[in-house]
Amino acid sequence: MPNSETYTIDVIPGDGIGQEVVPAAISCLDEVASQGDFSIQWRHRAWGSEHYHATGRMMPEDGIEQLSSGQGILLGAVGDASIPDDVTLWGLLIPIRREFEQYANLRPNRTLPGVPSPVGDKDVDMVIVRENVEGEYSEVGGRFHRGKPDEFAVQDAVFTRAGIERVTRFASELASSRSGRLVSATKSNGIIHTMPFWDEVVQETVAQYDGVSLEKVLVDALAARLVLKPEGVDVIVASNLFGDILSDLAAAVTGSIGIAPSANLNPEGRHPSLFEPVHGSAPDIAGQGLANPVAAIWAGAMMLQHLGQQDAAARLERAFTEVLAGGTKTADLGGTASTESFTEAVLTSLRNDPS
Ligand code: NAD
Ligand code: IPM
Ligand code: MN
Repeated sequence: MPNSETYTIDVIPGDGIGQEVVPAAISCLDEVASQGDFSIQWRHRAWGSEHYHATGRMMPEDGIEQLSSGQGILLGAVGDASIPDDVTLWGLLIPIRREFEQYANLRPNRTLPGVPSPVGDKDVDMVIVRENVEGEYSEVGGRFHRGKPDEFAVQDAVFTRAGIERVTRFASELASSRSGRLVSATKSNGIIHTMPFWDEVVQETVAQYDGVSLEKVLVDALAARLVLKPEGVDVIVASNLFGDILSDLAAAVTGSIGIAPSANLNPEGRHPSLFEPVHGSAPDIAGQGLANPVAAIWAGAMMLQHLGQQDAAARLERAFTEVLAGGTKTADLGGTASTESFTEAVLTSLRNDPS
């Protein structure tokens, strides 16, 4: 295990509750680092919508270059009602994912003790592997005949063999380290070019992994299954859009989107990876101390795991799990804790953990 190491991590709290949950995650990460004999040097980046209002950009022109010398990125959320979402997201988060080839977006979902599912007694332990840099999120297309009665818009999805293969390999390896069961989300009954191609390449790729079984499930039916019978689902591989939608759904099934973390990975380690909650800037609750910091703290644990600090990651997961199990919860989970008091409880739990 690496000891006495210092990691350089860029931190972008961003907008809305990003400003509340990221400081919570930082204090937990600093605590667990001090217990684990390593430290994190945070490079604070005041990028986001305020930066846009001040400069006309979501991040500096050389923002990607600035991040490239770090060992990881912790992000809160991006999005503010004063700027169109396509401008904010395509000015910050999406270019980072693309420039750093973070093609595997890992989104785990687990039922946690003390956190009831809104759809009955469920025992969920799954990971969605979302293709993160191509697919339905593309810049190919345009708006035509603007302002005319026959105005229209075209958006072309881009699926490449290499892109499908690499995310499927990642998901197959993950499945192989877990139950061996892989579900592929598809829609090849309605989307007749890209989705049959997706099915074909996924199938060919998974066939190279002994011990991994593939179940192809239409995404609409999969959405229903995640609500009604999520228990048997282990690893899901999905295109960019389907993975996005399924991950909010799966998060809600396990209690709240306030607990769901994600790791945007560049699996080859050529570029920094980015860790963030699945949720957004939640303008409806921003600035009130109501935000659940679990997703951000858990994303921090995923970052530690990625950095090779497995023990510290496990301690952190144990700490927030214990706090939730003890009944301390934020309002989204039916509790009365504030972001700050929940975080204090996690810090106390970390300090009391003898292992
Ligand atoms: P959202 O995730 O911000 O909020 C959806 C609902 O969940 C809201 O009612 C919110 O209060 C609640 N919620 C979210 N996180 C919570 C938390 N930690 N604790 C308690 N409740 C929480 O989604 P939205 O409302 O569709 O989007 C708001 C903005 O965020 C938009 O601008 C959107 O584009 C952006 N967004 C950004 C990201 C990102 O940066 N990764 C992700 C999703 C949405
Ligand atoms: C997510 C978000 C983003 C996405 C948006 C904000 C562009 O919803 O990370 O889940 O769709 O990738
Ligand atoms: Mn999303």
